Amino acid sequence: MRLDKLLSNTGYGSRKEVRQILKKGMVRVNGSVAKDPALHVDPESDTISLLGEDVIYREFIYLMMHKPPGVLSATEDNRDRTVVDLLGSEERHFEPFPVGRLDKDTEGLLLLTNDGKLAHSLLSPKKEVPKTYFAKVAGRVTEEDTEAFSRGVILDDAYETKPGILNVLQSDEISEIELTITEGKFHQVKRMFEAVGKKVIYLKRLTMGPLVLDEDLKLGEYRELTEKELQALVKLDSSKQKG
Ligand code: URA
Repeated sequence: MRLDKLLSNTGYGSRKEVRQILKKGMVRVNGSVAKDPALHVDPESDTISLLGEDVIYREFIYLMMHKPPGVLSATEDNRDRTVVDLLGSEERHFEPFPVGRLDKDTEGLLLLTNDGKLAHSLLSPKKEVPKTYFAKVAGRVTEEDTEAFSRGVILDDAYETKPGILNVLQSDEISEIELTITEGKFHQVKRMFEAVGKKVIYLKRLTMGPLVLDEDLKLGEYRELTEKELQALVKLDSSKQKG
């Protein structure tokens, strides 16, 4: 990889700014001053330093966000704010994207990364990654609904869902539930409730595979995954597909 690209990707500025830094002799590669932006370096084996500080190269970023309502799970949009608009420039320069989609009005756990392979794996239907949602539902959610969900329900497009685990926390005029599903069809939770004649009025994702929403994150806040969370994801990525 070119030295200027590596430094720029690591957050030391634009390619133009990095070239200025190089010109001033502030960068050393394996102990020798390097001024050539096109110098080929290997981040694995070469030691690169800027004013004596080691440059730690990294390619990927993994962020957990508490998605607020009213924001799109997309990288850009002409009209609406997107989850990427909520990131600072330090994170944005890695060009992360949301892994899967939450509806505009849905809140909760959203993973953003630029690791396409991991994202693809998490979203693969074959992996059957469980996702748990908390919802408020208009009307009484009953044992029959729990049974229906455990068998799978037929959506408005005739698709039969895989079984879901419905846990009724409160059955009332406005019920509160937790639902765990292993698929990610468009509006799936809302449509599963429509299939049993009920309407979701509030939806929040709590978990995705091994990731659990960090309740210290306020709506719109985000943080990097911990090493433990990342390792759990990597393990899932490398695990054999179900079935
Ligand atoms: N199911 C939905 O209906 N909406 C979401 O945002 C996520 C799952």
